[in-house]
Amino acid sequence: MTGDMSSRTVVVTGAAGGVGAAVARRFSEAGATLVLGDLDAVRLEELCGELAAVCEVHGVTCDVSRVADVENLIAEAAATGRIDVLVNSAGLWVEGPAEETTEADWDRVVDVNLKGTFFACSRAIPELKKTEGCIINLSSDCGLVGTPETAVYTASKGGVSLLTKALGIELAPHLVRVNAVCPADIMTPMLQYQADAYGGGDPEGYFARLLTGYPQGDKARFITPEEVAELVFFLASAPAAPITGANISIDFGTSAGYGYAE
Ligand SMILES: NC(=O)c1ccc[n+]([C@@H]2O[C@H](COP(=O)([O-])OP(=O)(O)OC[C@H]3O[C@@H](n4cnc5c(N)ncnc54)[C@H](O)[C@@H]3O)[C@@H](O)[C@H]2O)c1
Repeated sequence: MTGDMSSRTVVVTGAAGGVGAAVARRFSEAGATLVLGDLDAVRLEELCGELAAVCEVHGVTCDVSRVADVENLIAEAAATGRIDVLVNSAGLWVEGPAEETTEADWDRVVDVNLKGTFFACSRAIPELKKTEGCIINLSSDCGLVGTPETAVYTASKGGVSLLTKALGIELAPHLVRVNAVCPADIMTPMLQYQADAYGGGDPEGYFARLLTGYPQGDKARFITPEEVAELVFFLASAPAAPITGANISIDFGTSAGYGYAE
């Protein structure tokens, strides 16, 4: 697989979100056929409308926490003739003290972030074996280190990071590569939601508190979705051939040492 994706089919979940849309745009620039899944039918349709001018694109409204929806998404993608790349970007955030966590919060977040990612991988495997394709999962720095009041999200992303390793090994004999990217805070609708929902009415204060956790001090900034998309694209391209079962940090060093992870 080279930087030219013109004969490749790429599936993206959570495609209408900040990272998912940036990933879809990056692959569209390389000429890929895109099969884009998201729960948000309106924003998905907008994105498909935008990208239809650039490449072949199919939008599939789906809830990745439902295995039947995932199977339908993968079937739609297989109907293009092949699946080369699966990017699992659908995700939800929840935070708060563990003792206040509800069963509904746990089920919602684990079902989307972990179960959704796993079954998208699982159901795409037969097609990926045919193409010696690859999977890129959106984990998080929270998938690598623990932080206070993020236990549910962290558990879900820790699961994503380890299932990435397990699948990387399992699928290596078929030359199917499975990697995860582990970003710190990316300026997307998810981060805005975090600040709005958990910032105590002061979203700017929430952002400022996050950035105090970065080793860059007053030069700290959030990651852009395009920076993450570029890493995802690299992992799907030929120079990444030796990389599998890896969790690649893109986090300004927040997970590299004690005291910095947010
Ligand atoms: N934004 C960050 O700071 C950050 C940091 C590290 C990791 N991540 C991870 O990156 C991924 C993308 O996050 P983002 O920042 O683009 O978030 P986002 O909220 O902008 O996008 C997530 C997308 O997932 C979709 N989605 C939610 N539930 C779904 C479901 N059940 N089925 C299908 N689609 C569903 C949403 O509609 C949305 O379009 C997520 O897995 C997230 O956990 C984000």
